[in-house]
Amino acid sequence: MKIPFHKPFIDDNEIEAVSDVLKSGWLTMGSKTFEFEAMFAEKVSARHAISFNSATSALHIALSLYDIKPGDEIIVPAVTFVATAETVRYFGAVPVFADVERDTHNISIESVEKLITDKTKGIIPVHYSGLPADLDPLFEICRKHNLFLIEDSAHAFPSYYKDKPIGSFESPSVFSFYANKTITTGEGGMLTLSDDAMADKAKKMRLHGIDKDAWKRYSHDGSWMYDVTELGYKYNPTDISSSIGIEQLKKSDYMTRLRKDICHKYNHLFSSSDSLELYPSKEGRESSNYIYPVKLKLESLSVNRDYVIDELKKRGISVSMHFIPLYRFSYYKEFYESIGRKNNFDNYPNSEYIYEREITLPLYPSMTDEESEYVAENLISILSEKSK
Ligand SMILES: Cc1ncc(COP(=O)(O)O)c(C=O)c1O
Repeated sequence: MKIPFHKPFIDDNEIEAVSDVLKSGWLTMGSKTFEFEAMFAEKVSARHAISFNSATSALHIALSLYDIKPGDEIIVPAVTFVATAETVRYFGAVPVFADVERDTHNISIESVEKLITDKTKGIIPVHYSGLPADLDPLFEICRKHNLFLIEDSAHAFPSYYKDKPIGSFESPSVFSFYANKTITTGEGGMLTLSDDAMADKAKKMRLHGIDKDAWKRYSHDGSWMYDVTELGYKYNPTDISSSIGIEQLKKSDYMTRLRKDICHKYNHLFSSSDSLELYPSKEGRESSNYIYPVKLKLESLSVNRDYVIDELKKRGISVSMHFIPLYRFSYYKEFYESIGRKNNFDNYPNSEYIYEREITLPLYPSMTDEESEYVAENLISILSEKSK
């Protein structure tokens, strides 16, 4: 059997929606994009939802809403995708890596508190795998030290913190619609915001800094005349991608239920394994169940994580790893060295612990019982063959 790591949940509705846009004569950002934004805003109870061609560009624009100068420090978790830190570097600022919690892989509050200096400008927590980071203490730290907080919610649609949807908080929040995310537009992102002036600025900055109706300029009601009021970027989505997003949103409750069922099934199948540490649930925090990470109990095994990944591959099972800690990448090693900042791996004991042990198993809404059982049985048999 061959099990892919992920499979997008696409049916005739997305195909017809794209076909309708292609036939309509309007391909780039327009009415479909605004319809998608309105639906998303309603779904996560956001005042504003502004869509982008990726979460990375949405993060870049979210950061540009604050006055970030070269040398400013922004605290990010060490265990995240590189986009969280690279967008900080776009400003010449320093991504300061905080260790994460050993069980949730979310940013550690204790580590954040130790890293605050008079250069700290903000914090970007990541809701790893869709489980919300502990936002209340983070908001408290931000209030105390006058810092901004931007949520990297790339994994977190739909997730809830104390019954409130991620995306509904005051902080800017950034979602990803990359191909393997919980809803996809192929490539895409969304920025949710509560502040009206910031939302206006973000809309301009995603399209060259030109005033707000410029997207209409090739339509009958548009005009050739426009002004440029900001240094902007070319980060808008298209109506082709947004039409896929609309169809994905319509069935997102169903997709979420399917994901949760598969996670429950995995939890049940692995519950008696002595060689696996399962990802926890947390009171008051509901995950989107974007991915299914497990950690190997290396102390009870005679092999390492790479061996297990290779064995799964031999059995036709594609897996992944979330994430290689950022301080291990050449670019960040060299960057820290260039500014005389220590990059000692011992500073990140939990990130190292996770890096040595984590494997992300296949998870997608159309996964059958037979497929999840095949994954679980194979993983359990590889581990039991190699248990000490
Ligand atoms: C935590 C995190 N942040 C940001 C991104 C960037 O998303 P995108 O690929 O839509 O730019 C990703 C992508 O996987 C991610 O995992």
